[in-house]
Amino acid sequence: MQTAPTAVQSSSPYFDEARSAEVVNARMSEDADARLRQVMSVLVKHLHAAVKEIEPTHEEWFTAIRFLTETGQMCTDWRQEYILLSDALGVSMLVDAINHRRPSGATPNTILGPFYVANAPEYANGANICLDGKGEPMVVEGRVTDIDGNPIPNAKLEVWQTNDDGFYDVQQKGIQPDSNLRGVFTANSEGRYWFKSVKPRHYPIPSDGPVGKLLGAMGRHPNRAAHLHFIVTAPGYDPVITHIFTPDCPYLPEDAVFGVKRELIAEFNKIDDPEAAQRVGFSSPFWAVSWDFTLATSRKPARAIP
Ligand code: BEZ
Ligand code: FE
Repeated sequence: MQTAPTAVQSSSPYFDEARSAEVVNARMSEDADARLRQVMSVLVKHLHAAVKEIEPTHEEWFTAIRFLTETGQMCTDWRQEYILLSDALGVSMLVDAINHRRPSGATPNTILGPFYVANAPEYANGANICLDGKGEPMVVEGRVTDIDGNPIPNAKLEVWQTNDDGFYDVQQKGIQPDSNLRGVFTANSEGRYWFKSVKPRHYPIPSDGPVGKLLGAMGRHPNRAAHLHFIVTAPGYDPVITHIFTPDCPYLPEDAVFGVKRELIAEFNKIDDPEAAQRVGFSSPFWAVSWDFTLATSRKPARAIP
């Protein structure tokens, strides 16, 4: 009778079900980049564990491969279906949380989303970024301060949102005016900013591709809770990529990309006062939002990535 020597068996280079991840990871060169070795060995370990738990049929595995293929095929310069997948599975929010552990009191980050456009038009405080005249008028004002409440003069605020039909300007080129509902403002010497826009509404993330199909199959809707996007920056401070949410949106607890944080839900006050409306250049009624941003000083990332 032949008995297999156990010591040799445990380091065997040949594939076996029980040691599958170990066998694959043992192939990685000691000379490979240390961070890459770490990332790939963790991924292989967890991927193999998932496959062992799921025990897919060949057909099911091929369905998964086809899904990833279609996800790649959906990507263009302006449509990134893999980012959408990461968003819909909560991974974008998790990566963001890991990289932005701020001191308490600082404005938290949330998801950037695919509709940010650099170099949007710069406006003086008070300007109206709504160029298509649709929606319920809104004034937003507030301060940008540090953690101790000191104003941050000249902080830059980039803002963007959908129009009242639920689309960003870049999704409707030729339909909406260029740069509709986006702009860049600069806080004054007291850290104050103010601008006009329209009350944001909920809208669906792009759902005509494989990610939308997957959400549907999982019984999930594609809607994002109503929000305005902001990037607030100032030299020496950690840039804040964030939103403010309306408090009355039914999708707050089930935002399609898990972007809602309690601290980012603002008060939207409906002002039904013709004199107040006239002062801001609107007809009554309009929405008033007061929102302060608190920036933490910049710090080095917790871990350097080679
Ligand atoms: C957005 O808020 O613009 C967004 C975020 C994630 C996916 C799609 C859109
Ligand atoms: Fe958005």
